[in-house]
Amino acid sequence: MKTIYSAIQPSGIMTLGNYIGAVNNWQSMQANADNKCIFALADLHTITVRQKPEDLFNNSMSFYALLMAVGLDVKKSVIYMQSHVRQHSELAWLLNCYTYVGEMSRMTQFKDKSAKHSDNINMGLMDYPVLMAADILLYDADLVPVGYDQLQHIEITRDIALRVNNIYGDIFKVPEGFIPKVGAKIMSLQDPESKMSKSDPNPNAVISCLDAPEVIMKKFKRAVTDSDTVIAYDPENKAGISNLLRILAVAENKSVEQAEKECSGLRYGDLKVRVGESVVEMLRPFRSEYDRLIADKAYLLKCAKEGAEKASEIAEKTLKRFRDAIGFVPRQG
Ligand code: TRP
Repeated sequence: MKTIYSAIQPSGIMTLGNYIGAVNNWQSMQANADNKCIFALADLHTITVRQKPEDLFNNSMSFYALLMAVGLDVKKSVIYMQSHVRQHSELAWLLNCYTYVGEMSRMTQFKDKSAKHSDNINMGLMDYPVLMAADILLYDADLVPVGYDQLQHIEITRDIALRVNNIYGDIFKVPEGFIPKVGAKIMSLQDPESKMSKSDPNPNAVISCLDAPEVIMKKFKRAVTDSDTVIAYDPENKAGISNLLRILAVAENKSVEQAEKECSGLRYGDLKVRVGESVVEMLRPFRSEYDRLIADKAYLLKCAKEGAEKASEIAEKTLKRFRDAIGFVPRQG
């Protein structure tokens, strides 16, 4: 039995990139009976960048519904909100005392985000990877599916876990990060050299999983390609066309080679329409399930509560192991 752990920040929109590259893969991991899956909304991470309270609230409800709409099932997996499980904040503090300022200040994401939010370089922004280490280590995770940009945080999680284990013996399971193969690289529709990002200011660059069908079609029709006319999978020289082929392959559940073969005779405009239509079809059942769930807030909250209870139970055991090893006097009763 393998424990799989991952999380997503409930901020902005859930993009087609998140859907294909992350949560849809979570769903297939859940389908494997050898896996025990734990998925969180990383709402504590979200406040490293200032959030309007009503946005944080609405996005958290929306992302919880989105995860369930993808097919994540609260009966099979643990699905919860990070802020509901206090052990995350507590372990993050403990781990802080085993983490060096130097290593945090060298993290790529910290440097990028400090440049982007230079008016609010708060401690949380720097401490982000330690909280992420706490998330993962609390659940004795074996495998952590993430995107490329998060691999450095998994490395530091491993370093911290090994450091603690070297001092106190076997406290933490040392996790492995991995990048799911399917849909790993869904790129911006306007700049296919860079990743499709939920914070992209250009709305044409990004498909939201909740975009209306006509909006999806419009965005694909405007997708940036190249000045050639040949449809071929060649990420280096034809980033735009290759991105469309990768998306098509996932939407039509076939290999990229097969998608390339089927589309080789099409004009660029026809390829864009085909990709758009397939994505609309892929998202249709998801969209209607989302609409149903988001209308039932009481049900979502009940699921989140049960998820948090299951998560806390696991997290508390790990936290206690570490607290005792450090030498804190156990609270009686
Ligand atoms: N930092 C991750 C991201 O932005 C989200 C995240 C938070 C996460 N905690 C995690 C991912 C633990 C994997 C494991 O994508």
